[in-house]
Amino acid sequence: MGLGYVGLPLAYEAQMAGLEVTGLDLNQEVIRGLNLAVSHVDDITDDQVRAMVESGFEVTSDPTVIDEADVVVICVPTPLSVNGGPDLSHVESSAAAISQHLRPGHLVILESTTYPGTTDEVLIPVLEKSGLKATVDFHVAFSPERIDPGNQSFGIANTPKVVGGIDETSTSRASAFYRLFIKEVVAARGTREAELAKLIENTYRHVNIALMNELVKFCHDLNIDLWDAIRCASTKPFGYEAFFPGPGVGGHCIPIDPNYLSHRVKTHLGQPFRFIELAQEINDGMPAYVAKRVQALLNDDGKAVKGSRVLLLGVTYKANVADQRETPAKEVALALMGLGANVVFHDPYVESWAVNGIVVECVRDLDQEMGSADVIVLLQSHDEYLGRTMWPRDKPILDTRGAISSQQVQTL
Ligand SMILES: NC(=O)c1ccc[n+]([C@@H]2O[C@H](COP(=O)([O-])OP(=O)(O)OC[C@H]3O[C@@H](n4cnc5c(N)ncnc54)[C@H](O)[C@@H]3O)[C@@H](O)[C@H]2O)c1
Repeated sequence: MGLGYVGLPLAYEAQMAGLEVTGLDLNQEVIRGLNLAVSHVDDITDDQVRAMVESGFEVTSDPTVIDEADVVVICVPTPLSVNGGPDLSHVESSAAAISQHLRPGHLVILESTTYPGTTDEVLIPVLEKSGLKATVDFHVAFSPERIDPGNQSFGIANTPKVVGGIDETSTSRASAFYRLFIKEVVAARGTREAELAKLIENTYRHVNIALMNELVKFCHDLNIDLWDAIRCASTKPFGYEAFFPGPGVGGHCIPIDPNYLSHRVKTHLGQPFRFIELAQEINDGMPAYVAKRVQALLNDDGKAVKGSRVLLLGVTYKANVADQRETPAKEVALALMGLGANVVFHDPYVESWAVNGIVVECVRDLDQEMGSADVIVLLQSHDEYLGRTMWPRDKPILDTRGAISSQQVQTL
């Protein structure tokens, strides 16, 4: 259930391992596209979808397909609500659909990222509206998705899968299911431990990136090259993992998921999760810092931001993918526009781009545009930019990724 960034790659691995997979989604465009062998997800190509379809994979919005299934895996979105708390409406509506078709022997697995306690407090009560009893009539497990869009080395099959059931049978049934197409399965003590495992992973990155983001500002003022210091620290073969500063955090895992944990702590224990809140504050402040640095660079060049042409390079949230979810480029663009800049962008993965309804001009001829812009800001380290050896000498260039080795480029 849910054939997005998580559900589609999972369906692919399962189908290719010889399982009979049916996709259930509500989005008619997604359903139509997949049945016509068109992928809407970066990590899965049209050819891969075609191979799935040719081996029997079908996508539908008809929940009666649940009747036929042995295992139902929920991969639906878990965004934030308007007040910043968890929005579990998709999980709840999937559970409601399953409960109407639940039968003895079913195994239901939740993969959507969520706070610890969701499986037993939210999912199971809805499933039990069917009149069937969890652990007696059907089994339930939580297994966090660890997909890393664009990662060429680690995909579903070779990334260990954590599985926590509501009882031993649930854990062993869910583990046996995943072992059919994933090399290593790791059993958690229960659903809450499996739910928390995912949030630990995301929060760890969130906090460490924030540490570097705070440090990069001090390093700039102290005239220290933070990237070089990180390179040196990274040579320690134990006890250190490198994280890098940047223009802010994007995607789903880092800016959104840790909020599920801090919200749980706040609502259940009445306490702030200070590390998460601080990381959020620092990471959220990075786009404004980038805008401030652009302003200073233009100032050094005797120009005001107002009326200057600012070229943003790379507006996706991650290098070499088209995914724009929560991209910090949006906040950078808004901050610069707010100062009166004429913002244009270039991105080999993005055809058109609008921020808060404002269409940002897309430039296609990079060499020509680099001549016209007053300042260039590298926001995303797509390979196309890293491979460039020639950068203009007559204008400021801000590299927010520490990715360009060129004398005339300033890092964040
Ligand atoms: N994208 C990632 O990199 C990533 C990584 C790890 C974990 N996750 C987590 O996995 C979950 C899914 O994320 P995603 O990125 O795949 O989302 P997505 O938006 O790409 O896809 C979700 C799909 O679910 C469908 N859907 C929504 N409600 C439904 C319902 N009731 N029944 C059937 N289908 C329904 C939507 O139409 C959509 O196609 C989220 O909890 C997310 O936090 C995502």
